[in-house]
Amino acid sequence: MKGTGSLSKYWMFTDEYTQNPYPILAQLRAEQPVAKVETPDGVRAWAVTRYEDVRTALSDPRFSRDIRKLYGSLGRQLGKELKVEEELTNQLANVDPPRHTPLRKGLSFAFTPKRVRGLREGWPEVVDNLIDEMLRAGGNDLNSGLAEPLPIISIAQLMGVPDSDWPRFLVWTTTLRVVDASDPTGIKARHSRELSEYLQDLIARKERNPGDDLLSALIHAEGDKRLTADETLSSAFGVMTGGNDTTTAMINSTFTTLLTHAGARERITSDFSELPNAMEEILRFTSPVINSLQRVTLEPVELGGVVIPKDEIVIISIQSANHDASVFPDRPDELDLDRGRPSHVSFGYGIHYCLGNHMAKALTEVAVRRVFERFPGVRLAVDPSELRYQPGLVVRPLVSLPVVFGTPAS
Ligand code: HEM
Repeated sequence: MKGTGSLSKYWMFTDEYTQNPYPILAQLRAEQPVAKVETPDGVRAWAVTRYEDVRTALSDPRFSRDIRKLYGSLGRQLGKELKVEEELTNQLANVDPPRHTPLRKGLSFAFTPKRVRGLREGWPEVVDNLIDEMLRAGGNDLNSGLAEPLPIISIAQLMGVPDSDWPRFLVWTTTLRVVDASDPTGIKARHSRELSEYLQDLIARKERNPGDDLLSALIHAEGDKRLTADETLSSAFGVMTGGNDTTTAMINSTFTTLLTHAGARERITSDFSELPNAMEEILRFTSPVINSLQRVTLEPVELGGVVIPKDEIVIISIQSANHDASVFPDRPDELDLDRGRPSHVSFGYGIHYCLGNHMAKALTEVAVRRVFERFPGVRLAVDPSELRYQPGLVVRPLVSLPVVFGTPAS
């Protein structure tokens, strides 16, 4: 094996890595499990790739998720002060305890598996409508036709956004997802403001007329589960930003895996009750979230044989941990539905463990099941080697997922 010395310090931002990260990650795990990496604009960070080190970095309080500290470290390296938007500083994914504890308590109280079960009944129809719309328009891209809109629609339902507002909601959330942080035209800032105003208005309406939805549950919670108005708004934003791209990536990776693994597909389509267990191995095999949100060291920390200094940015590779042979000894780079319930870290680990995991799994299950039930012969329209990914630090978006639907089931 070639030494990691031969890897460019920008390895994480190369197309080779974006399209197929696994050989590079295997090399890093073997030779340099905590490796220095540099972004093209010169920001230094540390990449953690071994399973045990990943779990440590995700759960050890010396690795902070405080976004103000993260922006501080970033700003010091770039030589300028970076402003953090107020809404971001109130979000549970962006804070450490003790601030994190009540925010998590409030959101978990409102975001229950029971609430997801209630929504789930309507999802087959939502999926069918999206597929029908795609077919009517002559489309065949499962990514833009299904995997992208489905999470937005279901999150709108979860929050109690009235059906008549979905089109506006879809436009705002799509902008927030597709326009990059530099926002050259200012559209992202404008749509973010409009969405924020819309949510404030929705919160005011639900204060007067509560419904059976997550936002109403947050607003009307009592005692230690009650959040302030700012925290409620930020939590609403957090659910939307945490659940969109991630669930799109999960739906895409589940379809991609099944459309390229005939044995697994056959097994699942002949007995859909196998799907939930199979999805756990698919989550391990193709982690929808490739790296966790970045951490910052609060003091020098020894990990994987190196000392990471204080105030350094740490990137935790979930997809690498999920392919670590010391935990998944039997051909970790291959799909194996008989692996048992693999202890993957696809939804994180520790206090920031994903609060939306049950919803993401249920949504993916419904989407996959409806497509294979309605179109038993569905197949990829291109060779798997032609599927392209865009670079990304947290998810690695698929450019498109073109399929041939084939004859509908009678
Ligand atoms: C409806 C869909 C989803 C929602 C609403 C959602 C929401 C959230 C929220 C609120 C957090 C922060 C929890 C905290 O700080 O205590 C979180 C964390 C996380 N979520 Fe999700 N999520 C969704 C889907 C997904 C999917 C599909 C994945 C990947 C398979 C994923 C992976 C993660 C990970 C890895 C973290 C931990 C982040 C970290 O510690 O850096 N999420 N999610």
